[in-house]
Amino acid sequence: MTPRRFPTLSAATALVASIAGLTLAAACGAPSAARAPEPPLPAVAKSELRAPESFASIGDRQARSRALFAEASRVIFHPRCVNCHPSDDSPRQRDAAEMHDPPVLRGPTDRGVTGMECTSCHQDKNVQLARVPGAPNWHLAPKAMAWQARSPAAVCAQIKDPARNGGKSLAQIADHAAHDTLVAWGWAPGSGREPAPGSQERFGALVAAWIDTGAACPREEREAAK
Ligand code: HEC
Ligand code: HEC
Repeated sequence: MTPRRFPTLSAATALVASIAGLTLAAACGAPSAARAPEPPLPAVAKSELRAPESFASIGDRQARSRALFAEASRVIFHPRCVNCHPSDDSPRQRDAAEMHDPPVLRGPTDRGVTGMECTSCHQDKNVQLARVPGAPNWHLAPKAMAWQARSPAAVCAQIKDPARNGGKSLAQIADHAAHDTLVAWGWAPGSGREPAPGSQERFGALVAAWIDTGAACPREEREAAK
């Protein structure tokens, strides 16, 4: 059986591939014979994450920043993350974004509804045999932080926007990426679930490097494809 892929996850993978392979010329609208192609990024397994140093070969700072975000988005669009950043009122489960079973609702504070709170089942750590994932303060990302079915460009813009990211500065976003315990769960999901690629440490380093290079966002795919 072939596992069904997340459309957004393949979009993120395609984005990395296009940035790695196609060079800036495509992004600038017209192929330019004058500009030498950027050296390709090192190959990486699906379960691994490139280090920020792998992007040093991209001379243009903005292009490097966009490529760093594209690499970080391989984590962001992983089911372990998107399942808890849905666009509607229900968390998702497993690798194909199944609806949460049993049905649950986000409720007024993203923590469930009376009698069906997230923490009535989700503890502060994984419960292996019952397959219940857990981490401290388990609850849904607010709707403003929804990633499900959104493009990397859209998610990049909202992550930077204090009106939609919970009032965070870029430094606080980097800190959240590197240290938050719900983010950490993505690499220790328990019960045989596939972890996000790489490690939280490397993800944090990529987000920090993206910010250091100006936190540039990828273009919408529609535009990039022109
Ligand atoms: C159990 C649910 C849950 C999981 C799993 C989860 N998140 Fe979140 N995420 C949240 C909540 C809740 C917030 C809001 C926290 C706040 O504002 O303090 C959030 C906010 C964020 C933010 C802040 C900015 C924004 O605009 O979204 C980032 C970045 C983030 N999460 C990254 C991740 C990554 C990467 C993963 C996977 C490795 C992940 N999250 C997995 C619940 C989750
Ligand atoms: C009645 C118990 C129960 C309640 C209430 C509950 N969950 Fe779950 N949840 C589970 C179980 C059990 C699983 C594991 C399903 C599996 O993988 O087999 C799960 C899985 C998940 C997953 C998927 C992890 C993954 O990537 O596969 C997320 C995200 C999640 N729950 C979030 C929430 C949130 C947010 C709430 C509150 C709005 C909540 N849950 C309320 C029992 C519950």
